[in-house]
Amino acid sequence: MKLLIPTALLALASARLVNKTINRCDGVIVNGINHEKEVIKENVDKPYMMSIDYSTNVLYYTYTGHQRMTFVPAALNLKTKENYIITGMRGAFSTSVDPKSHRIYIAGMDGIYEFDNQEKIIRNLGLTNLNIWQVFAKDGVIYYTTYPAEKAFVYKNLQLTKVAGIGDTRALLLGLDKKDNIFFSNSSGVFFHPKDGNLTILVGEYTVNAFTTDANEKLHFSTPAGIFSTEVESTGNVKIKKVAEINNIYGMAVEAAPMFYKTTVDLQIFKD
Ligand SMILES: *[C@@H]1O[C@H](CO)[C@@H](O)[C@H](O)[C@H]1NC(C)=O
Ligand SMILES: *[C@@H]1O[C@H](CO)[C@@H](O)[C@H](O)[C@H]1NC(C)=O
Ligand SMILES: *[C@@H]1O[C@H](CO)[C@@H](O)[C@H](O)[C@H]1NC(C)=O
Repeated sequence: MKLLIPTALLALASARLVNKTINRCDGVIVNGINHEKEVIKENVDKPYMMSIDYSTNVLYYTYTGHQRMTFVPAALNLKTKENYIITGMRGAFSTSVDPKSHRIYIAGMDGIYEFDNQEKIIRNLGLTNLNIWQVFAKDGVIYYTTYPAEKAFVYKNLQLTKVAGIGDTRALLLGLDKKDNIFFSNSSGVFFHPKDGNLTILVGEYTVNAFTTDANEKLHFSTPAGIFSTEVESTGNVKIKKVAEINNIYGMAVEAAPMFYKTTVDLQIFKD
């Protein structure tokens, strides 16, 4: 399970819109606009698989715990900066918040749990006892991938099946856009499977470390070299746009809507 983890210490940081002047050398350029970098939580070892509950502005993430022996889930309130360490499960690796129901899922080495942020209660959903690499929740449906088998499953209407378009091929990470088109990645690259269609196509040879949707459910992914947005045109063509070039990204979540809709955008980034 530690396969993808480099040894460097990482901080949890965010980039905030500071000025519409592009030619500054500090900060981070996101969609052509300079953002200032801000560390939002220090002393967090390799935070990973972040997600945001947009109704509460709480960021969920996991990090490497004491003596690198375990993975710990935590919740960071982005407004108050209050940080809460979630107890009650072992080896928590991935988090996901369903954008509609706002249910919070945390997956780890013995399955998928649901976390109640008000009561601070965590419970195993009992869907699987496999080692889970990633969980992705959307519209009451739970998608997850296993490790080391790299199989993708979907739990919908009380039924557990393989994910259409992925089937028996390897998938370590996946994400769905607003229209339920599926993107997934394995060591060969990023692949796309349209909601209504039978073909799975190669999008590019990216080394993905996170799929995440923003508040408008636009799907993004990150690689160690940058942040990319996805778009499926009406013709069915997939357009990938590099929205930020940042080195050593380890995971990410998008805090607010992209700046096309709002004047500020916050990108939560991991950086050396
Ligand atoms: C943005 O930066 C430029 C150059 O540093 C400065 O002249 C301008 O006043 C700034 N604008 C705002 C809104 O801060
Ligand atoms: C990744 O997925 C694609 C599409 O299903 C598949 O063709 C390819 O063999 C997979 N790569 C690996 C390493 O399994
Ligand atoms: C996908 O395949 C199924 C079964 O082979 C077929 O009925 C369906 O029309 C195909 N869909 C598309 C969009 O090609």
